[in-house]
Amino acid sequence: METMMHNKISAQKAIELEDKYGAHNYHPLPVVLERGEGVFVWDVNGKQYFDFLSAYSAVNQGHCHPKIISALMEQAQKLTLTSRAFYNDSLGEYEKFITSYFGFDKVLPMNTGAEGVETALKLARKWAYEKKGVTENEAKIIVCKNNFHGRTISIISASNDPDARKNFGPYTPGIISVEYNNADALAELLKDKSVAAFLIEPIQGEAGVVVPDEGYLKKCYELCKANNVLFIADEIQSGLGRTGKILACDHEGVHPDILILGKALSGGTYPVSAVLASDEIMLCIKPGQHGSTYGGNPLACKVGIAALTVLKEEKLSENSERLGKILLNELNLIQAEYPDLVKLVRGKGLFCAMIIAERNGKSAWDVCIELMKNGLLAKPTHGDTIRFAPPLVINEEQLMECVAIIRKVVKQF
Ligand SMILES: Cc1ncc(COP(=O)(O)O)c(C=O)c1O
Repeated sequence: METMMHNKISAQKAIELEDKYGAHNYHPLPVVLERGEGVFVWDVNGKQYFDFLSAYSAVNQGHCHPKIISALMEQAQKLTLTSRAFYNDSLGEYEKFITSYFGFDKVLPMNTGAEGVETALKLARKWAYEKKGVTENEAKIIVCKNNFHGRTISIISASNDPDARKNFGPYTPGIISVEYNNADALAELLKDKSVAAFLIEPIQGEAGVVVPDEGYLKKCYELCKANNVLFIADEIQSGLGRTGKILACDHEGVHPDILILGKALSGGTYPVSAVLASDEIMLCIKPGQHGSTYGGNPLACKVGIAALTVLKEEKLSENSERLGKILLNELNLIQAEYPDLVKLVRGKGLFCAMIIAERNGKSAWDVCIELMKNGLLAKPTHGDTIRFAPPLVINEEQLMECVAIIRKVVKQF
């Protein structure tokens, strides 16, 4: 047993180890994965599954994409970390690449999504004091109800999810919330001259793939412009092809003042996040005022370029848009066939969700267990919602195979 790191581990043993030695901050499905390629993952017993979560949309380019892995391996043998105490030969190249890719003046590189969001909030506050003229310590950020932006103290201060908040107080002040998909309510709050920014997920992921009405984002953006308030888009989950466009904001032609990216920015290989903004905003932060040891490291830079290149080269947004329509259509058909179990389906691109009605004590969790047994991995969110978000490299034949699995399992219930 002492040599088990080198030997194959049983599923039961792997689960026992996590349970005994790891914090209990997740409740995973009982499947132990050891390998992934494209849309597939395999468990320790060699059983193959379709991955319909894509690590919360981090693996949009598919598991272990050869171009991303090769960029990672090549750079890993050369130089991995310098810190920002020195220049490195990859960061500038990456910064030029990503800013022109998304049409911004500057980027601030970080690692996790939550750090990206924190960075955006700090930038917005600095800008409010130094450019907008808000009185010191009075800046406010407007967030949306039922948001999910990560797990730091400030970010959970912006949450209204009791699990995320309870007994983690005191909370960060200066955050107010507004109903999602309600531009009139936002307009009311924007009358307050101390508002620095409006932070929004263009589609709410963790809330259960909540797609706002058409025109909502554009309206919010225009309201922000009219009130000299920054529009911050958290596209950590909705971005990078997931919804059928490179950014979910692209559906409405909105170019956010601050854009936050993460997850698929590395194609699931490495934590890479980024905050993009104009010079006017970004240059409010001066040396020594913000940073991260790993942010902008050469490995992340090479991986980021490769991950973004793959998205465009393989037309993954286009694939997501085309197959997303098929998926949503099929899910609608399943809903019409089994309306007692499937209350609602919704989505955009390959970012869909199914709301399950509890029946005979069986919930969305039980549906996910059955899907797993049938070779498809998906995870419930908020108890009754199952998100369907396969890697964007999926093809039509594979998608139809998945639809057949979903239909079969729903029928079983
Ligand atoms: C919209 C959004 N923002 C931020 C985050 C936080 O990212 P991370 O888990 O990398 O900190 C997530 C993670 O699910 C997310 O979906």
